[in-house]
Amino acid sequence: MGDSWVDSAERIGADLHLEPAGPGGRRAALIRALREAVRSGRLAPGTRLPPYRSLAADLGVARNTVADAYAELVAEGWLTARQGSGTRVADRAAPLRHAERPPVREPARARGPRHDLMQGTPDASSFPRAAWLASYRRALQQAPNEVFGPGDPAGRRELREALTEYLARARGVRTEPGRIVICSGFAHALRLLFAPGGAVLRGPLAVEAYGLGFHRELLAAAGVRTNALPLDEDGARVDRLGRERAVLLTPAHQFPTGGPLHASRRAAVVDWARARGGVLVEDDYDGEFRYDRRPVGAVQGLDPERVIYIGSVSKSLSPAVRLGWMVLPGRYVDGVLAAKGEREAWASVLDQLSLADLLSSGAYDRHVRRMRQRYRARRDRLVEALAARAPHVEVTGVAAGLHAVLRLPTGTERSVLGAAAEQGVALDGLAAFRHPGTDMAAQDGLVVGYATPSEHAYGAALDALCRALSPPARPAPASR
Ligand SMILES: Cc1ncc(COP(=O)(O)O)c(C=O)c1O
Repeated sequence: MGDSWVDSAERIGADLHLEPAGPGGRRAALIRALREAVRSGRLAPGTRLPPYRSLAADLGVARNTVADAYAELVAEGWLTARQGSGTRVADRAAPLRHAERPPVREPARARGPRHDLMQGTPDASSFPRAAWLASYRRALQQAPNEVFGPGDPAGRRELREALTEYLARARGVRTEPGRIVICSGFAHALRLLFAPGGAVLRGPLAVEAYGLGFHRELLAAAGVRTNALPLDEDGARVDRLGRERAVLLTPAHQFPTGGPLHASRRAAVVDWARARGGVLVEDDYDGEFRYDRRPVGAVQGLDPERVIYIGSVSKSLSPAVRLGWMVLPGRYVDGVLAAKGEREAWASVLDQLSLADLLSSGAYDRHVRRMRQRYRARRDRLVEALAARAPHVEVTGVAAGLHAVLRLPTGTERSVLGAAAEQGVALDGLAAFRHPGTDMAAQDGLVVGYATPSEHAYGAALDALCRALSPPARPAPASR
């Protein structure tokens, strides 16, 4: 048999990184390197070592050199050799550093919140594991070999086609696959749009007076100044748009206060963009979840040339998946692709194909519909429980989404958050979302992420929240 690199099953071992060096010849150097790898704990007890021939070929030494080194370390007790199971690191060869360390007492577990009502995540226990697995399997089976090469930064065609159909059907988005760019979620999309020195968008950017601080920080880090638009019962005051060329809004469900942007304002913002040559960046983060009336379609449908529409699976599936999409006016496509780079470096192509399958097989719709029913039932329980146990609290923003806002009397938010913490409830107040530069009057309220707990934990979380809210809180004494 020739000496080619991998020409027998015996040679196909596991990789083992060793750097034998030092005096005494190859055998001694290999023994030292192996002993050190075991002693330090880098090779854990039970680890199977590669067959002699495989390691010998990797290191460029004779097979007998490896056999001798293994035998020496078996004799010293570092390794064990058993017929049929090869050579392994001995069980008692635990790293000395551990054995010598005095026993460490486990730190007492901090008493953290027991009830998670933080907004931001869907019920993690409801991730559609079986459907995702079936889609992943199908996608992998059907994928041509070129899938495993470098990915196109625009994203897989299969996913862009499936999204074109889905977004038109479910969200009223008008587009085509060539105008969709796949990204890892909304935050990534913002980074691409405002990449420093980029050719896409520049600040200042108008944003809503209440919004996600993380997004404001991300923009600030990219050197983008944000101007706050006040909110009223019809949503963002787009009549206050000034010299900006771009505005970021959450039209379907204002984040976090919860109302839709009024139809007249939807039209007004598109008119403004047309008149100024500007653009609306539409954050459709939870548009699928509308409960009482027909879904509010995307503003993008009014003018696809004046709106950059962005969505992701973070609310519909999980924020851990990191997949999102940008639907772009044609003039921005090249700039976004240039910001993304030559190859796909963000969104796994296999995940993209799974999502494409999930969408085209109908499993995505089924999951969203199931979750919509479940979240609507939770929302109803929240409203009923508060009506019964804390009738002084007004529940708002409940027609859609995965969170509600409980309005509180002015000056009471801090004390109610304290009462919630005492009941073991984790949640945010509205103050956490306020733009620091806004001149809008502060609003007091709690943002309740009713989708966050698992189904079995929700009742107890709701109960604890109600305890925190009754009796009515009094305004904190005015600070000096
Ligand atoms: C206002 C808002 N926009 C967008 C997102 C989605 O962000 P991403 O797609 O980066 O997870 C979230 C959170 O899920 C959000 O709260």
